[in-house]
Amino acid sequence: EQPIRVGLMGLGTVGSSVVQLLEANQEDLFHRSGKQIVVEKVLVKHPEKDRSIQVPSECLTDQSDEILKNERIDLVIEVMGGIEPARSYILEALKHGKHVITANKDLMALHGEEILSVATEKGCDVFYEASVAGGIPVLRALTEGLSSDRVTKIVGIVNGTTNYILSEMLNKEAPFEKALAQAQELGYAEADPTADVEGLDAARKVAILATLGFRTRVSLNEVFIRGIGSVTLEDVRFAMQLGYILKLVGIAQRDEDKVEASVQPVLLPEAHPLASVNGVFNAVYIYGEAVGETMFYGPGAGGMPTATAVVADLVTAIHNIGMGVSGQKVVRPYQETVLKSSKE
Ligand code: NAP
Ligand code: HSE
Repeated sequence: EQPIRVGLMGLGTVGSSVVQLLEANQEDLFHRSGKQIVVEKVLVKHPEKDRSIQVPSECLTDQSDEILKNERIDLVIEVMGGIEPARSYILEALKHGKHVITANKDLMALHGEEILSVATEKGCDVFYEASVAGGIPVLRALTEGLSSDRVTKIVGIVNGTTNYILSEMLNKEAPFEKALAQAQELGYAEADPTADVEGLDAARKVAILATLGFRTRVSLNEVFIRGIGSVTLEDVRFAMQLGYILKLVGIAQRDEDKVEASVQPVLLPEAHPLASVNGVFNAVYIYGEAVGETMFYGPGAGGMPTATAVVADLVTAIHNIGMGVSGQKVVRPYQETVLKSSKE
């Protein structure tokens, strides 16, 4: 039986963990997917760099065509980050009939529609569970588990870096800059941590959650964004003295014909379920008219938790390949209804 050959684009925090997870769970993954998974090529920017993870030198390349035009490769995992060249590489991969898995919320929030439509045209899968809330399978919950319901509200802590910073400030009185440096060291932050600190990363996730949850297109510019860049140790302490915990909270809600979405620092009463979500953990509250209140909790960033989402997508993609169906045909991500943005 032919193995599934994967082209991995990026070998940083997430990419390295994907390689480790594939190796650690090789046997189980074979039983679950029915295929041996082979990482055929790994694209990096600096092939000469010292790495914590060893891959055979003949696998490592800085030439994207060695993956995109490689006929042996069935599927591409994009964990490089950023808009370009990630967008062009993904589109090129799809044009060559390769399925795609990505952890890239910047890209999916801005160009998701274009990418998914090319994927549908080419009969390929695009999965992006890892783009929201790291190791929590919340996109699957919205698109599969809650697909029979009408979701009207999604509220969550969806950025691990800022939650880690606020928790360190609260629990250890760590200054903002020190806590941010630790989050970077731990691999939680984006390459440019401004996206985390200023709420943009959380807003991208809110746009994706609302798009899938409400089955309509919610674009990034429809999300009101305020970050935690100006929050001081005194603010955090003062709030606590009054019985409140400061958190960066994303909210998306719909009513009959309108959707509202925002990311901003919020003072939560100490007893609020989101107030006790600490460190790199994320939590997403979802309200569906039939199910009522649900809550999803887990590590929101970091190599290994994120890799679990990437590899789970890989297993689903392999099943789809085996059955000759693509995910786009099975799950229609949006355009079921058209809602107006309250910012319009
Ligand atoms: P990272 O540690 O900065 O790694 C990026 C990797 O991509 C590096 O191996 C880098 O090569 C390679 N790369 C970057 N630009 C490239 C280019 N133009 N051509 C070829 N290779 C390139 O990033 P990360 O933290 O793993 O994040 C990757 C993606 O996952 C991002 O979209 C991020 O938003 C998302 N994500 C991250 C986390 C997390 O906790 N870190 C969680 C969820 C989602 P070199 O090694 O040679 O420099
Ligand atoms: N920088 C992101 C965060 C990574 O801190 O949540 C996970 O998406």
